[in-house]
Amino acid sequence: MVANASSPPARAHWSSRTAFVLAAIGSAVGLGNLWRFPAEAGANGGGAFVLIYILCVALIGMPLLLAETLIGRHGQRSTIASAAYLARESNASSGWALLAVLGVISSFLILSFYSVVAGWVLSFIATSGGDLLGSIAAGQPLAGAYANWTVEDIRQQMPDLFGDPWRMTLFHFIFAAATTVIVMRGVKGGLEMVAVWLMPAFFFLLIGITLYSAIEGDFAAGAKFLFQPDFSKAIQPSVLLSALGQAFFSLSLGGAALIAYGAYASRDSNLGGSAGLISFADTAVAIIAGLAIFPIVFSVGLEPNGGPALMFQTMPAAFHTMPAGAIVAFAFFVLAFFAALTSSVSLLEVSVAWLMERFGMSRAVASFGLGAGFFLIGLASVLSFNVWADHRPLPFLPGFENASWFDAIDGVTGKIMLPLSGLITAIFIGWVADRKLVNPETGLSPRLLPVWRFLIAWLCPLAVALILLFGLFPQLLG
Ligand code: PFF
Repeated sequence: MVANASSPPARAHWSSRTAFVLAAIGSAVGLGNLWRFPAEAGANGGGAFVLIYILCVALIGMPLLLAETLIGRHGQRSTIASAAYLARESNASSGWALLAVLGVISSFLILSFYSVVAGWVLSFIATSGGDLLGSIAAGQPLAGAYANWTVEDIRQQMPDLFGDPWRMTLFHFIFAAATTVIVMRGVKGGLEMVAVWLMPAFFFLLIGITLYSAIEGDFAAGAKFLFQPDFSKAIQPSVLLSALGQAFFSLSLGGAALIAYGAYASRDSNLGGSAGLISFADTAVAIIAGLAIFPIVFSVGLEPNGGPALMFQTMPAAFHTMPAGAIVAFAFFVLAFFAALTSSVSLLEVSVAWLMERFGMSRAVASFGLGAGFFLIGLASVLSFNVWADHRPLPFLPGFENASWFDAIDGVTGKIMLPLSGLITAIFIGWVADRKLVNPETGLSPRLLPVWRFLIAWLCPLAVALILLFGLFPQLLG
């Protein structure tokens, strides 16, 4: 399982520290921020969830992000080999590479349903784009979205899509193919290129839509929903687990993507500073996306429901009655697509880099094989909305008895595998790995280093272990 080369194989690198940070932000900022974060906040009571989420990012996510990138940069190998290398150099068992094995499996599984959700986004780009062209042709470019439709028809789009496995498969395929082709093009020509072009475009669109929402939406109600905590909801262990799982998912932690990206970082990239920047940018985008979405939802008298309905039913219905809604709806889905693509390439890169290194495969063959693999596994998620709607793959797992394939893969990766990989990473870096190797990699100042060491050795493992335990087995609390 573990590469046995003792000197690092020749590896590709990012062209600059900026490219590394942009690519890592591209990995972190994705559907997790736009689709999962507002939906989780909506389902878990708004402000209370947001507060716990921010604490999870600052105290657990950020220290772990630094730990993951430093494993990669130190190893200069693919994820599993990098973790094994640091373990061996620290005279520890290379079994610690389990943290990355879990990561490789998780990111591959996440990609299977991520691509399905990104396919929904593509389908909405197609309908909202067609609608916008129609408005322009009718000489009314500033019309509301789907101007000639009834609200029922607009809301019906999502159930219609979910009930149509062929359409879902088509868009899942297009997204999977785009992801695969980019990863095939390599570190500089593929991963870095999409990040450098799409992330600035993403930020530009996000700011535009947020300003629009502030002017046209009910900003006060949106902000109140996001920032006013209702602590009766916050205390529940299931909410804690959701917030922690969301922090892992959103920061791309536990899926080894940041180990992979760290491995392409050069010696002179300051990892501590980069980890802070990446965590900050990702959280800012989640909150700004919330500030773009909720005021629009409230302004038209709709409720912030959880799940995919928020993005694919409520938002299109809201854009219907808003000025220039057709343009903004299209821009909104394009923005989500850009975010999804820069994340999906990082999810695929993890296993592609591993196959290349472990079996000496060419990048093209590894990308193509794994691309076909996650596309096929994703079909289970496609079918769980229609043909397999009654399948319950995990009836024996507490909390997952009623989960469909889609919910099962999302839930098991997000709530169990990513945090578990993070837990092992924290114990490994906090207790096992040689400090003389680890500390200089961080680039932290003498004041910050002990803070990070405390967080990674004590707070991260304890908090993640407790949240995992009580989140999965709430009956333990009596
Ligand atoms: N962070 C991405 C998002 O928020 O959409 C998803 C993701 C990417 C999760 C990479 C895990 C990962 F390894």
